[in-house]
Amino acid sequence: MKLVLWPWFLLFFTLVTSSWSLSSDGQALLALSRNLTLPSSIRSNWSASDATPCTWYGVGCNVRNRVISLDLTSSGVSGSLGPEVCRLKYLQILSLSGNNISGSIPPELGNLKRFSWLSLYINSLSGTIPEELFKNQFLEQVYLHSNQLSGSIPFSVGEMTNLKSLWLHENMLSGALPASIGNCTKLEELYLLNNQLSGSLPETLSEIKGLRVFDASYNSFTGEITFSFENCKLENFSLSFNYIKGEIPSWLGNCRSLIELGLVNNSLSGKIPTSLGLLSNLTYLILSQNYLSGPIPPEIGNCQLLQWLELDANQLEGTIPKELANLGNLKKLFLFDNRLSGTLP
Ligand SMILES: *[C@@H]1O[C@H](CO)[C@@H](O)[C@H](O)[C@H]1NC(C)=O
Ligand SMILES: *[C@@H]1O[C@H](CO)[C@@H](O)[C@H](O)[C@H]1NC(C)=O
Ligand SMILES: *[C@@H]1O[C@H](CO)[C@@H](O)[C@H](O)[C@H]1NC(C)=O
Ligand SMILES: *[C@@H]1O[C@H](CO)[C@@H](O)[C@H](O)[C@H]1NC(C)=O
Ligand SMILES: *[C@@H]1O[C@H](CO)[C@@H](O)[C@H](O)[C@H]1NC(C)=O
Ligand SMILES: *[C@@H]1O[C@H](CO)[C@@H](O)[C@H](O)[C@H]1NC(C)=O
Ligand SMILES: *[C@@H]1O[C@H](CO)[C@@H](O)[C@H](O)[C@H]1NC(C)=O
Repeated sequence: MKLVLWPWFLLFFTLVTSSWSLSSDGQALLALSRNLTLPSSIRSNWSASDATPCTWYGVGCNVRNRVISLDLTSSGVSGSLGPEVCRLKYLQILSLSGNNISGSIPPELGNLKRFSWLSLYINSLSGTIPEELFKNQFLEQVYLHSNQLSGSIPFSVGEMTNLKSLWLHENMLSGALPASIGNCTKLEELYLLNNQLSGSLPETLSEIKGLRVFDASYNSFTGEITFSFENCKLENFSLSFNYIKGEIPSWLGNCRSLIELGLVNNSLSGKIPTSLGLLSNLTYLILSQNYLSGPIPPEIGNCQLLQWLELDANQLEGTIPKELANLGNLKKLFLFDNRLSGTLP
């Protein structure tokens, strides 16, 4: 009887020691992979008999063999992302974009103290963005776009004081853009397009002095543009397809790096500011479908790089300025559906 039991005892002993020898980070990854479904090629590569997970597909370690990055971008991963991910205490980079991960974002991700890069875009994530996730002053890049996230943008967004990029577009986010966003003073890119966001855009956006891209088009934002930039760094600024009213702010003339200005289909009124003529890099000026009145400023003729000029479906009047003939790079000119007179110079 004893002789028969011996091999079983040895096998048990071997299993115990091998799982002891895999580092805690490796065990955390294996625990994670119970819900996060890896394709078999990756699963067989994540071998429990290794001492560390540092040679595993998608895993990056520091010199002390602690996991600092998990990159399974476009790797055929499905299932859900469990809270086990935050057992990887040294994790700086998590990139799981371009997969088919469903379920919600674990709030525990907010506990990671060295976390600087979160990329979960193009998946099937649903539920709300956890308030805890944004309580993280280390995060610099947050890419959550092209999922099915709902609910509002957490107020805690203002705690990400080192944030440079926040990409939240193509989700089902609703509610207002929290005023606390103004605390993200290092923010350069804010993509909100294609959500169901509403309310007025907070005046605190003025605090984000290095903002280069602000795209909030295809939402339900209302109110006037109350924020402003003196020393403006904007390259792309789009609020198209919202319900913004009031005038186009003349401070846009301070945005000398501006390439694209899109304000299509809002309720903007008043005149087109002459200051837009100062924008020497402006390539796309798209102001169609508003209630803009007054003349087309002749100064627009100074925007030598302009390729698209769309001013159609407004209430513009007067003659078409002859200065538009200076626009040598123009490829698209839409002026119809206005009260303009005269002919194209
Ligand atoms: C996993 O793949 C890496 C290369 O991506 C290789 O170096 C390593 O030996 C593989 N490990 C196993 C257990 O297959
Ligand atoms: C992980 O999978 C188990 C079993 O299918 C399930 O009960 C649990 O809710 C899942 N956890 C997460 C975070 O999805
Ligand atoms: C993604 O997963 C869902 C189930 O969660 C499945 O119905 C769907 O077909 C998958 N899509 C792709 C592109 O694999
Ligand atoms: C952020 O901004 C809001 C409103 O602008 C303010 O009330 C709050 O105290 C600020 N601080 C943090 C950490 O969110
Ligand atoms: C700005 O918009 C233009 C035109 O759509 C695009 O080519 C360019 O890549 C955008 N730049 C940034 C920084 O998003
Ligand atoms: C205009 O664009 C050029 C080429 O990208 C760039 O070098 C220059 O700095 C830009 N001008 C301004 C005022 O941003
Ligand atoms: C904006 O688009 C909608 C839908 O196409 C249209 O009904 C509305 O008249 C447009 N607004 C303006 C100011 O043209």
